[in-house]
Amino acid sequence: MASEWWRSAVIYQVYPRSFADGDGDGVGDLRGIRSRLPELAELGVDAVWFSPFMTSPQRDAGYDVADYTDIDPLFGSLADFTDVLTDAHALGLRIIIDLVPNHTSSDHVWFQAALAAGPGSPERDWYIFRDGKGAGGDEPPNNWQSVFGGPAWTRVTEADGTPGQWYLHLFDSSQPDLNWRSPFVRAAFVDILKFWLDWGVDGFRVDVAHGLIKAEGLPDYTPPQAGGSMGGRPGADDVEDEPPLAPYWGQEGVHEIYREWHEVLAGYDGDRALCGEAWVEPLSRLAKWVRPDEMQQTFNFAYLETPWEGGALREVIQDSLEAFGAVGAPSTWVLSNHDVVRHATRLALAFENPQGAGIGPRDLKRLPDRFFALRRGRAATALMLALPGSSYLYQGEELGLPEVVDLPDDARQDPTWFRTGGERYGRDGCRVPIPWEAGAPAYGFNETGRSWLPQPKLWAEYARDVQKSDPESTLSLYRTLLELRRQHGLGLGEVEWLGGYHEQVVALRNRDVTVIANLGTAPVTLPAGDILAASSPFEGRLPVDTTVWLRAAE
Ligand code: GLC
Repeated sequence: MASEWWRSAVIYQVYPRSFADGDGDGVGDLRGIRSRLPELAELGVDAVWFSPFMTSPQRDAGYDVADYTDIDPLFGSLADFTDVLTDAHALGLRIIIDLVPNHTSSDHVWFQAALAAGPGSPERDWYIFRDGKGAGGDEPPNNWQSVFGGPAWTRVTEADGTPGQWYLHLFDSSQPDLNWRSPFVRAAFVDILKFWLDWGVDGFRVDVAHGLIKAEGLPDYTPPQAGGSMGGRPGADDVEDEPPLAPYWGQEGVHEIYREWHEVLAGYDGDRALCGEAWVEPLSRLAKWVRPDEMQQTFNFAYLETPWEGGALREVIQDSLEAFGAVGAPSTWVLSNHDVVRHATRLALAFENPQGAGIGPRDLKRLPDRFFALRRGRAATALMLALPGSSYLYQGEELGLPEVVDLPDDARQDPTWFRTGGERYGRDGCRVPIPWEAGAPAYGFNETGRSWLPQPKLWAEYARDVQKSDPESTLSLYRTLLELRRQHGLGLGEVEWLGGYHEQVVALRNRDVTVIANLGTAPVTLPAGDILAASSPFEGRLPVDTTVWLRAAE
């Protein structure tokens, strides 16, 4: 396999709960994944990233880890993982696993030991425990809010039954933040990295990679924009060159940790890679995560959050190439994942929908037509896959799945829904188990028909088996684009902007492919050249909400 594969790889995110369910209990698992791996090889992706499958009480769908070096029985066993890894490698697919270092589950033995050991103990120093403020310490140590809503502090009851210290949790109260200034924590995670590297994984997606270090003194902080994005970052419009940082995001001290991890990975063969989930802006700041001695990649959320608007897209693409290029890193591109509204719905929304708000019954009357929205989603994908660098795909987007917007309240599972008292729907709408066969129980997700989130009837239309034989299906489009991307070496190419088009047209050349995306309101006349692929079929001029790949004239 070529070296530094991550520079141009297309990486497919599997959300294990919802991909394929081998034992029929309604939650996806490793056996299910294994049985469907050939489909991913056939799709034409280079690597697969698995959201967490480690031991966990599943209070945040596995992002609350109770044992970092074992597999939750819900998903199978370490032996099942070995099977998946062996098969994937045989199919030419790299495997990246999710590492969650910012917090553990409150069930983790470290947290249980910290609770038992009491204030001032070395064990408490593994987490962020503080005395409360006010008379009797009844008030939280500072004003920080959880990303999922409500205060970021929970008070514990000490062993003698009295109200005690408070612990920090930037996410759910079942996810206490670790203290990354503790040498114990640092050493423990190096061991965890080595455990999985020895097991043979090709890399890690690092959860909340901007959160590990908190500012000294834990000063009060009110984000400029309430709630929403995983970063609680300022709105894109008020971002100046380097806007002030929240005292819990993007602190300088995180970089030392990733430099150490870089060295750990460098000690292994095979170009192992780290990809950071860091919700920081602007892109010039994000590029610090991928300096030559830190991570290999970081998710480009600025791109994901860019609306379907010509000028904004050109700008974010150019800024990304420059910012990452300046540190010698590839840019990455992403439109969907398990935390955001699926882009085959999101890009056509006509109302503000901050990350985490989700979509639900209250919004039904203001939703876009799903065929119109899918058309836009396909055009956006065709633009993304033409760009040099690495792209991330989220399971089900290759089927054109829309966000599930009508989940009943009592089916919802995202802690965001509970912690905001139903004010934010949260992320369940993009996490519904995906359809494989139109006529099978649970649409082929398993054989029993059970599903941890109810699947909509609409899934029959989107099932993989019906799309396989349809040359105009979204699945066929993804396969074609991925194949052409590989043939033309677009992942290692360069963007050359093409002038002479309307403001709402994104036109560029990458190697010998001309790419034109029409985000405007009128059809666009195309230059000469054979059509290699189009996000929707057309004849003559390029219709609105369509992207075309043409063989560029010499
Ligand atoms: C990341 C994950 C998200 C999770 C959170 C807390 O943002 O992508 O799903 O809830 O971290 O671990």
